[in-house]
Amino acid sequence: LTLVVLISGSGSNLRAILEASSRPDTPVTVVAVGADNEADGLAHAEEFGVPFFIVDPKAFASRDEWGEELLNQIQVWNADLVVSAGFMRILPAGVVSALTPNLINTHPALLPLYPGAYAVRDALAAGATETGATVHIIDEGVDTGPVIRQTTVVVEAGDTESTLHERIKTVERDMLVATIRDIATGQISLKELS
Ligand code: GRF
Repeated sequence: LTLVVLISGSGSNLRAILEASSRPDTPVTVVAVGADNEADGLAHAEEFGVPFFIVDPKAFASRDEWGEELLNQIQVWNADLVVSAGFMRILPAGVVSALTPNLINTHPALLPLYPGAYAVRDALAAGATETGATVHIIDEGVDTGPVIRQTTVVVEAGDTESTLHERIKTVERDMLVATIRDIATGQISLKELS
């Protein structure tokens, strides 16, 4: 299975995918990494010799023009699957409709709880005693597509946004890799789920 992975930040989920792709039980190849900025996580792509592209919204007059260029840069790779792994932009509808259901996202909460960009902070603020991560198909909404897999983590007393997010990320990257492996081996059909 060939992948394009989209990131915005540290790319620990990307790194987990890159490391897993060298395992014999994971027939997955990351053919390119895309980012919306000079993300620190692009260093993982460089380390693994994977080409990357940056499509920065600030360089475009509109969201739609940005989306068009992002879609062009994704589609040249003819990948089987596009994985948003810490990509902090909402994909314009034209991008989603061109790629879904072969377009998945990982989100640090148990959707439909706590959608949006501040999921960990929102769970803490709500006094949640447990939260987790969700891998889902991206549809035209924000964090609303069909759920593929979820994993829960407990919220510890004294947790801060960063301690809780780190605990979530430890299970999130394993779940994301397992989900991608299952898609690659046919255990999961995105078409059937969509
Ligand atoms: C992940 O928890 C992802 O779900 C959220 O942002 C985090 C990205 O982490 N959207 P990283 O860039 O993969 O380290």
